[in-house]
Amino acid sequence: MKKLFIQTYGCQMNLADSEEMAAHLLARGYVPTENLEEADLALINTCTIRDHAEHKALSFLGRLRKWKRENPSRIIIFAGCAAQRLGNRLKKTFPYLDLVSGAKEIDRFAELLDHSGLFSTNPAEPNPATQSVTGYVTIMRGCNFACSYCIVPSVRGPVHCLPSQQILRQAAQKAAEGYPEIVLLGQTVNAWQEEGKTFADLLNEVSALPGVERVRFVSPHPAFITPQFLAAVENNPKIARHIHLPVQSGSTKVLQEMKRGYSRETLLEKLDALKERGFAISTDIIVGFPTETPQDFEQTLSLVERVHFSAAYCFKYSPRQGTPAAQMQLHTEKTLEERLDILLNKVKGLAESAYRVQIGKPVQILMESPNKGRTSDNFWAKTKKSYPVGSMVNSIVEDVDDTLLLTRD
Ligand code: 5AD
Ligand code: SF4
Repeated sequence: MKKLFIQTYGCQMNLADSEEMAAHLLARGYVPTENLEEADLALINTCTIRDHAEHKALSFLGRLRKWKRENPSRIIIFAGCAAQRLGNRLKKTFPYLDLVSGAKEIDRFAELLDHSGLFSTNPAEPNPATQSVTGYVTIMRGCNFACSYCIVPSVRGPVHCLPSQQILRQAAQKAAEGYPEIVLLGQTVNAWQEEGKTFADLLNEVSALPGVERVRFVSPHPAFITPQFLAAVENNPKIARHIHLPVQSGSTKVLQEMKRGYSRETLLEKLDALKERGFAISTDIIVGFPTETPQDFEQTLSLVERVHFSAAYCFKYSPRQGTPAAQMQLHTEKTLEERLDILLNKVKGLAESAYRVQIGKPVQILMESPNKGRTSDNFWAKTKKSYPVGSMVNSIVEDVDDTLLLTRD
């Protein structure tokens, strides 16, 4: 049996893409391994959102030079967003690389494998590579926004929505395979639409499939958090009460310069509406965007204080070649570090209080191991008794241990 090692960098979309690519390799006779040394094929699925992410993938690829030299029949595939950005330039620097497959080519990955001459085909049905309580279903790819700092539209291309029929079939299959939680994925997932059908309709339809207990979606854009969306999710308890909604900044001026398409005020209205409906909100924030003044940064800090995010992923601005913001004057590394530090400290303190306020609340936990699972609003919870993995447990939060809710039952 030939063995497949997968290294994935980046977002959940990339994890799902890795699973999809892995399925095509398993269908060609590979079995997964977590040990690179015993592997015959290394699949690296890469991210290019920030320079640091791309650098990590490239340095991993660099380390594979020796691995390949030890056994030249080993195969290396470099896939995903950094592969899309760098393209054939990669083969010049890393001549031992066998195959480059960009993020836009995911739909043609099987074809690419067949044409590479590296594999003998064995057209078996692809199988999912991992087993957990969560099944991922990609519902759209690409992005039609043009945020001035972001490389995604250029590496992933414009929006392409998958047909609802296909999405519902895949979600039903995942549920039947024993995944009670379905996560719908897309770069701007709530931009999904189809003739006569909205994203909210799709959420309701997926949640009504037999065996589906909970539905999540990653990553939405604030532009599509509309009254219609809120009304549709309000009465459906299967739609998880957690949303990861990237805000990026708390300053209207910076948001405008980022070309995000919303102001601090409209953003706050939407965040408040979500909170009123019981949603815990996590977010992404960029510090040190080129035009961000100390006052703008203060606005971000005050937004964080006002909203009480359950988690916030904070990033130092990283210029990406070809994006409008990359032409602007950069802040010094010292300023970036200082602002990141201040923000991280604020976020940490607030997240702690987000846990403490859970004490006394009723929760519904989807068990991911006999004693641990996640609540609808995406907190980890530990139960006293043991329950079957995949079951839904109703209990009450009694206490908090760092970032873990401790329940009564
Ligand atoms: N620099 C820093 N962070 C970025 N992100 C996207 N592009 C950049 C960039 N050029 C962040 C955003 C996005 C998250 C996935 O990565 O916050 O939501
Ligand atoms: Fe990038 Fe903006 Fe599209 Fe998100 S919405 S992927 S930040 S361009």
